[in-house]
Amino acid sequence: MLENASSNIFWHQGSISRRHRETLNGHSGLTIWFTGFSASGKSTLAVALESLLYSKGCRTYILDGDNVRHGLNKNLGFSPEDRSENIRRVGEVAKLFTDCGIITLTAFISPYREDRELVRSLFRKGDFIEVYVNCPLSVCEQRDPKGIYRKARAGEIPSFTGISAPYETPLTPDIRIDTDQIPVDACARELFEFLEDQGYIPNCPTVPDIAISNS
Ligand code: ADX
Repeated sequence: MLENASSNIFWHQGSISRRHRETLNGHSGLTIWFTGFSASGKSTLAVALESLLYSKGCRTYILDGDNVRHGLNKNLGFSPEDRSENIRRVGEVAKLFTDCGIITLTAFISPYREDRELVRSLFRKGDFIEVYVNCPLSVCEQRDPKGIYRKARAGEIPSFTGISAPYETPLTPDIRIDTDQIPVDACARELFEFLEDQGYIPNCPTVPDIAISNS
């Protein structure tokens, strides 16, 4: 557990609680944590699932590894320590979003089990779902949408996950999705049905007619 570097700090309680915000939203806050290799389909799946949730009237937000590293975490690289700090910060941000009553989808490789468990421990039971986005490394390498596996194989990117840095497979994810077996839309529906079965999806009125582009 990270020691607090500050002292003489006090929690300030607001008058609007998470329950108030959830009542306004019509559903509970939740964090859906996607983990897997680069190009395994985490972001694509998060985007597709978010569309389904939106059309059901859910309030959502995606925290994506590549995006967050453009801003909040732009001072972090890919050493084990920096990855841990990346995941810790995102876990804390996701916790804040969840407290806002938002369904937060996070798409980070998050290669270390210990880091993922630390994030899980920030949440109340039921507020955090770990999704293992399973795809063989060989398929991720074939997909290589950003050309980074090619660069990693050429030795141009050090400590690349799956090539020269580890990925620790989740042992007990809440759900595993095999993105090399099933098309992305079907994967998203499978996840959506999982959330429905678990009682996370409310009977919100469906949102009318706003075109959603997944590109
Ligand atoms: S994590 O390991 O700290 O969870 P994160 O999900 O934020 O990683 O970022 C992964 C993305 O950064 C990859 O999809 C890829 O585009 C890029 N990237 C750049 N260098 C590396 C590297 N050494 N290992 C893995 N991904 C990298």
